[in-house]
Amino acid sequence: MSAIEINALSASPDTLRMLSEILIETVAHGGSVSFMHPLQPKAADAFWDNALTAAGRDQRIILGAWDGDVLAGTVTLLLDCPPNQPHRAEIAKMMTRRSHRGRGIATALMRTAEQLAVERRRTLLVLDTATDGGAAGLYEKLGFTLAGEIPDYAFKPHGGLSGALFYWKRIGTRP
Ligand SMILES: CC(C)(COP(=O)(O)OP(=O)(O)OC[C@H]1O[C@@H](n2cnc3c(N)ncnc32)[C@H](O)[C@@H]1OP(=O)(O)O)[C@@H](O)C(=O)NCCC(=O)NCCS
Repeated sequence: MSAIEINALSASPDTLRMLSEILIETVAHGGSVSFMHPLQPKAADAFWDNALTAAGRDQRIILGAWDGDVLAGTVTLLLDCPPNQPHRAEIAKMMTRRSHRGRGIATALMRTAEQLAVERRRTLLVLDTATDGGAAGLYEKLGFTLAGEIPDYAFKPHGGLSGALFYWKRIGTRP
């Protein structure tokens, strides 16, 4: 595999198309990322269009991991927290293309997201992942602490409920 390059994504038709492809593929294979299968391209495009607009307003950072001109993975750092939580950020939409899994791309994306959060003076990162088929192991390897589980939190893409595991990690310097 060639070297993976990570950068912050901004709106363009190609980027939108590749983000939608990765989201549709992830959902089709059972990834719990807020959508049900089959995810229609129009719905995926609408989601990323809104997300990229929010990124343009600095309310979130959408990172892309590039294998040449192929978008191999993505993660979103949500920065738009309520006024009483300016020190917090949230991780969302962590996905690696199936063709590129198991090569450290998610780990690299998470480390970059954490570094960007620290640069923005955030000191607390939170995320959640499905109990059934989620990525708890990945987050635990990255030093996240399990706060607890909420049962029957969301439907899996192909139906049937799964609980959700909520994680947190202190980063940077505490306020
Ligand atoms: C979870 C996901 C992003 C991991 O991507 P990846 O690029 O293959 O991850 P990495 O190669 O960086 O793996 C890092 C480590 O986490 C572990 N890991 C990865 N996915 C895991 C999972 N689903 N459960 C448990 N551990 C996992 C790997 O075994 C690896 O450990 P190692 O370094 O000891 O080998 C990918 O499997 C994916 O897109 N899944 C579908 C979407 C999803 O569930 N996203 C999470 C939503 S919260």
